[in-house]
Amino acid sequence: MTVYAIIGGTGLTQLEGLTMKALLNPETPYGAPSAGIVQGDYAGRDLLFLARHGHPHRIPPHQVNYRANLWALKQAGAQAVVAVNAVGGINAAMGTGHLVVPHQLIDYTHGRTDTFFEGELDHVTHIDFSHPYDEALRQKLLTALAATGHAHSDHGVYGCTQGPRLETVAEIARMERDGCDLVGMTGMPEAVLARELDLPYACISLVVNPAAGKSSGVITMAEIEAALADGIGKVREVLVRLFKA
Ligand code: HPA
Repeated sequence: MTVYAIIGGTGLTQLEGLTMKALLNPETPYGAPSAGIVQGDYAGRDLLFLARHGHPHRIPPHQVNYRANLWALKQAGAQAVVAVNAVGGINAAMGTGHLVVPHQLIDYTHGRTDTFFEGELDHVTHIDFSHPYDEALRQKLLTALAATGHAHSDHGVYGCTQGPRLETVAEIARMERDGCDLVGMTGMPEAVLARELDLPYACISLVVNPAAGKSSGVITMAEIEAALADGIGKVREVLVRLFKA
């Protein structure tokens, strides 16, 4: 059976129901991952879990060591990665509490180390990234999601911004013109690094606020935290269904 790794985002720094068998603290050629990797049993199968922002939550999106995280998961035996992220909703159909399994992304980040292919290389490599998310894994997530009955979208374009600040209204308007449905800060370079390591990767996004300019007020952390507390249980249900399948 495929050994899945879950990368938990904001609101998911640990996974209830995961029985820990070991806590791995690997060093990688890129430094240490965000936290120890929990190797455990979840819903009856082997699973790896990593808290993207550390445990407790302390590493902002632009300072996550994405290379160390992906490398460490691969070393620990991961064969596929399911990422969880909290996002702002740009598309009016994707309001707070909505779940989305994105099918595409646009990268607006800058200055993040986003490849393993650097330094002394035997040859220059350009990997294909036309479809950034693994379609088979996306479909499995969607099957699990449909079984929960929670409102969701089976596709969406995830725009990844640099953070840690939230966006301006004009930036969100531009992202909307670009075709983005969602905005988050952690989708890249995670997705491309997984591809470089040949790890099938897909994500499930929980909308925790309307993006800048998409509601009458400003975005508050209190609003985001309340939506996370409310919605993360739905994500857990999806994961349980996925791993029981
Ligand atoms: N913008 C960027 N990242 C986010 C947001 C947002 O509005 N909400 C949650 N993560």
